Amino acid sequence: MQRLRHPAATVEVVIGMSALGDALRRRRSIRRFRDEPIPESLVLQVLDAGRWAPSAGNIQSWRLVLVGDAAVRGELVEAMVRSLEELVSEGATAEEAERSVGALRSAPVLIVACMTKEGFGDRPDRWMSERTMSVQGVAAAIQNMLLTAYDIGLGGCWCSAPLLCPTAVRRVLGIPQSVEPQAVVALGRPDEAPEPPRRRPIGEVAYLNRWGNGFRVAG
Ligand SMILES: Cc1cc2nc3c(=O)[nH]c(=O)nc-3n(C[C@H](O)[C@H](O)[C@H](O)COP(=O)(O)O)c2cc1C
Repeated sequence: MQRLRHPAATVEVVIGMSALGDALRRRRSIRRFRDEPIPESLVLQVLDAGRWAPSAGNIQSWRLVLVGDAAVRGELVEAMVRSLEELVSEGATAEEAERSVGALRSAPVLIVACMTKEGFGDRPDRWMSERTMSVQGVAAAIQNMLLTAYDIGLGGCWCSAPLLCPTAVRRVLGIPQSVEPQAVVALGRPDEAPEPPRRRPIGEVAYLNRWGNGFRVAG
């Protein structure tokens, strides 16, 4: 347990270690998976958690394509790799490309998280903010799925490759033009236990009442 106190001691926040707190801290991005099928009931639990995310005006802009079929999965990953190779030839580094798809190669299940624009209203001047809110909703759904995966003994990784090669993803999965593939969540039994990447201390990322007014860790 950690106590955080404002310098003037007017505020004290206690960070407890509930099951949720534990999941928040111990969940890691898993990029290597065991060659083992995942029971459908577990995958459905992960998908269902995505559905319970908050969204602006409850618009629920996420659309989730579950890719468990090995042939479709292989086709999808290969199509993304080919597109990313083209990007490499246009200047992206091979490391950047590999970072985008590395986790997808050994995952037995992929969930392609998309954003639909179907709930957008008829006011073009609002489309930019509606789009941003819709993307934020998809991100919340992805985080729900990653935490649930951890909670039920699976590992997952949020991969942003579809942002670099949306055409390939749309083509393989038959996703309409009005829907934007935002990310692929790789899912499976973890075959690695990575150390937690460093987090910035709270005083660096959170302020009290006004910008720049820092917390300090007490005790
Ligand atoms: C929007 C977003 C995009 C990400 N894209 C990738 C990715 O393309 N490939 C990858 O291996 N990890 C990706 N990650 C995972 C991050 O690298 C990871 O969350 C971060 O390094 C912290 O590690 P942790 O998740 O284990 O705490 C992404 C995470 C987010 C939130």
